[in-house]
Amino acid sequence: MALFHSAHGGNTREAAALLGIAPEQLLDFSANINPAGMPASLKHALQNNLALAERYPDVEYQRLHQALAAHHQIPTSWILAGNGETDAIFMLVKALAPRKALVVVPGFAEYRRALTQVGCDVAEFHLQEEEGWQLTGRVLDALTPDLDCLFLCTPNNPTGLLPDDSLLHAIAARCKTLGIALILDEAFMDFIRDRSGFIPHLADNPHLWVLRSLTKFYAIPGLRLGYVVGSDVQKVNQMRAMQMPWSINAFAALAGEVILQDTAYQQASWRWLEQARPRLRAALAALPALTVWPGVANYLFLRCDAPGSALQRALLERHILIRSCANYPGLDDRYYRVAVRSIEENDRLIAAMDAVLSGTGPVL
Ligand SMILES: Cc1ncc(COP(=O)(O)O)c(C=O)c1O
Repeated sequence: MALFHSAHGGNTREAAALLGIAPEQLLDFSANINPAGMPASLKHALQNNLALAERYPDVEYQRLHQALAAHHQIPTSWILAGNGETDAIFMLVKALAPRKALVVVPGFAEYRRALTQVGCDVAEFHLQEEEGWQLTGRVLDALTPDLDCLFLCTPNNPTGLLPDDSLLHAIAARCKTLGIALILDEAFMDFIRDRSGFIPHLADNPHLWVLRSLTKFYAIPGLRLGYVVGSDVQKVNQMRAMQMPWSINAFAALAGEVILQDTAYQQASWRWLEQARPRLRAALAALPALTVWPGVANYLFLRCDAPGSALQRALLERHILIRSCANYPGLDDRYYRVAVRSIEENDRLIAAMDAVLSGTGPVL
């Protein structure tokens, strides 16, 4: 049985309440946030600009959109920022108003929620464990003319796997031919060094949309900032016209102007992940009953062949919260996702998992 009501990771309040402790006492591996915390450059900018709270932000967020456009070297007219990427997902779906959509299972839950809200019929494409949970050419056959849009998450959440570039190009070509809007969620792309994702390919394809989040890589999930990018300027303008005024707070808008410039933070984050993830993956894979997939993002997807959802419970007793994937369509209570955190924090997770799975911890 699921331990929590929440559909997402990061609900430390609910988990802590179960134990009768304060949320701060939990080590949270359930939300995929950069453990470095927000960039120091942003912290200083926020501290020095508290007066922004006393004024309305620019309703067009010109400086923010210019900063995003400069970062990706694309026209400002292609971008619309939102109150987190989640907001951008809902804006895009509302503007596209699809009647039939295809989503990948297991995948991020908010695509389906946004699609259902506009009365869209949602079909599922199931990833398979026998295919290593990787997206394969099978998906090309699932692209039929009755579809209006396809959501893909690259790298996927919760698997952390990134489809081959050649497959993504084949999917984009087929979507273009069939007039299917291809929506690529690149919320975790910033974690991968030297990967620019599909934004450089937008010019050739007005059916292509890319969603980005700044909340994960720059550790600002409480501030919230994300955006949608596409070369169909008319559609972007339509979204702009439908967006609620001032929906991004002034501090989040300032964050967007500051953090993209912080190359030292970006470099340090890439170095940390390149060191920490393989180490965590190898240590977890060496434990009894665990299978770990080779994710490329800042989290790892695993299967535990000990019964029930007891692993999450047993770790919680040790004040460590991991994400059970039991509530993802297509998965069950053997599957989990853990964030990559600092080397020391990962070591705590490894030791706790070892104790639990090797039988020196609470019985599973
Ligand atoms: C795949 C994916 N896309 C988008 C989001 C939403 O990001 P944001 O916090 O910017 O709304 C999340 C958050 O968990 C996510 O996992």
